[in-house]
Parts: sequence; structure tokens; C-alpha cells
Amino acid sequence: MEFFHTHVGAGADAEVRATLQSTRLSEGVRVQAFERALAAELGMVRPAAVNSGTSALHLALVVAGVGPGDEVILPAQTFIASGLVVRMCGARPVFADVDPLSGNLSPADFAARVTPRTKAVIPVHWAGMPCDMAEINAVAAQHGISVVEDAAHAVGASYRGRPVGALSRFTAFSFQAIKHLTTGDGGAICCTDPHDAAEVFRRRWFGIDRASSPMSELGERDYNLADIGYKYHLNDYCAALGLANLVGLPDRLARRRQIAEQLDAALADVAGITRLARPTDRVSSWWLYGMRVERRLDFVRALRDRGVPASVCHLRIDTNAIFGGPFELPGTAVFDAEQINLPVHEALTPADVAQIIAAVRAGW
Ligand SMILES: Cc1ncc(COP(=O)(O)O)c(C=O)c1O
Repeated sequence: MEFFHTHVGAGADAEVRATLQSTRLSEGVRVQAFERALAAELGMVRPAAVNSGTSALHLALVVAGVGPGDEVILPAQTFIASGLVVRMCGARPVFADVDPLSGNLSPADFAARVTPRTKAVIPVHWAGMPCDMAEINAVAAQHGISVVEDAAHAVGASYRGRPVGALSRFTAFSFQAIKHLTTGDGGAICCTDPHDAAEVFRRRWFGIDRASSPMSELGERDYNLADIGYKYHLNDYCAALGLANLVGLPDRLARRRQIAEQLDAALADVAGITRLARPTDRVSSWWLYGMRVERRLDFVRALRDRGVPASVCHLRIDTNAIFGGPFELPGTAVFDAEQINLPVHEALTPADVAQIIAAVRAGW
């Protein structure tokens, strides 16, 4: 049984082959078609496709104006990329605590850590469950702070009936190989402000406005850069894979929800498990099925012996030397010490799900 599953859609061979045969490999019509499909099918606002989730986060911070001397607030319960992008801007990551029942940023602890230097906040939708976005956006608006959602785990999630990718000034997605929707590697940035979106599109390709800078007769575009641009665009053959993989995504997300509900029901009375919160005003994308357990290493070993992989996926990042921690984060300490995830992907068969349930119920 796999812990993660990489979905390569039935149409992928033909889509990618057609792109290769066209010999138009870099950013072009398929990237545009992929962006239109992300907006139409997932409700993403002005998605700009880029070559990774890390690039998406970094470019969003750049366009938000984050630079040396600034502080960016984020949870420690995330992947290292969320913190590295802050350092790539020359800014200082300030780690805020999470709710130990979700792994998501605590709006109250975020508010408590705001200083005059705070320029942005990065709420991470841990495991695909959306953060408290109304509260986070309210605190951010009060202090003039840009919100950059890290939605690497949250393709297809929604909050109060609205899709993730339409909620905050910036949202960054990842289409890396083990995500719900993959382009091999890739990502997207969504912007609710059209001016931000224009800047993202310009600066993802060196800072040259590709769409409206025609070639001169001499064979070069007319540009005069005044700021740094990046080579962050997505390629057409990656977008072709993304287009093929968008087919059936809602069904695959629904299957994940169904498995999560089955696990919830079957594991509700198991001693030693703390179930995570299930707020009724949001829908998780169920990238991970997480919970907290007592004696975690015993749990992982017992399940492994019964053929079921369990994983922490990511441990808190503030302990890395580059960030100088660990910091005093009581909710994070509890969550990080006890959190564990079970397989929840759409390739699991009913027999696999039964095996997972039996393996946990047999004890550890
Ligand atoms: C929370 C989080 N943020 C950012 C990233 C970076 O995404 P990518 O690998 O596409 O650069 C990941 C990747 O797993 C992630 O889990």
C-alpha cells in the first residue's frame, strides 16, 4: 500500500506527446489553457502557472513587497519551503503557534506577534484543511499585512462556500508529484487584485511583459528592466500533464472525503487517538488524514508490521539551524510530537481501507 499516490491521467500520454511533437515546449498555449481550466474548474482567481510551489510562494512575497528588514509571520508546522522563501526575500521568519487540534495557524497568536515590521503572513492549510481565513484576513487588514496562503496541500478545498485560491490577496499552490493535481513539478499563484496579478505574470518571466512586448524587427523585445525578474514560468509539456490530470479531479477529491469519513467513523472510539477538528464551514482537500496519537513510534511500527504506512509527512521547521529555533510554541510542541497521518488517497481500494482500519484497531 502506498502512503502517497501520483495520479497520471489516462489522457496524459496523448496530451504530452502532442506537445512534444509540436516542439513548442516552453510557456505557450498549453500553459494558458491550463490556467483557464484552473480558474473554470477550481475557482482559482487569476492563476499564474509557475514551475513550483516554492516559486509561487517566493514570487507572491516579492510582489507583496517583502524585503530586508521585514518580518513575515508563519506557522512552524509546515514544510521547509514556507520558511526558506522568507529568507530568500532577505526577511525574517517569525514563527507563530498552531491550534493543536488542526495544525493550522492560531489567529490569536498571529495577532500577538504583529510588529510595525510585519509585512506578510503565510497561513498554511495543513493537510488540506483550510485555516480560519476570516479571522486571519481581519487581523491582516487591521494592520495592513499581506496574506499569502500556502495552499500546497489544499487544491480543491473550500472555506465558507468559496474555493481556496479566491480568499486572500495571494494564494500559492503546488503541483509537485505527490500532490492531488500534478504537473511533475509546478505551482500557481492566485491574486485577488488585478495589479498584483499583472506583476506576477510579468515577474515570473524575467520581469519582461511577454504578453504585450512584441518582437522588434531585429528579433528582441523592447524592455528596460528596473527590478528583478525570475525564470519561474511553467512549461507547456508540464501544463499538458496538468490538463490531463484535471480530468476527474472532483471525483478523486470526493473519494478522498469518503475515505476520511469512513476512517472518522471507524476510529472514533479507539483509545489513544485524538481526532483533529472538523469545522463544518470548510471542506478539506484531504491531502493527509491526520490525527494525534499516544506513543507515536509504536503506532508507526505496529502499522508497518500490518502492511500500512503511516507518516508525519513534515515536522516543525523552526528547529532548523537557518531559523535559529526551536521557539516557544506550546500548541506546535503538542501537535508536532503526536501528529501522524494515514493513507487517504483515491487509489486505495475498499480492501485497503478495511486493512487500515483493522491495523489501527488492533492496537499499538
Ligand atoms: C506546505 C508546503 N509548502 C510549500 C511546498 C513547496 O512546494 P513545491 O515542492 O511545489 O515547491 C510544499 C511541498 O511539499 C509544502 O508541503
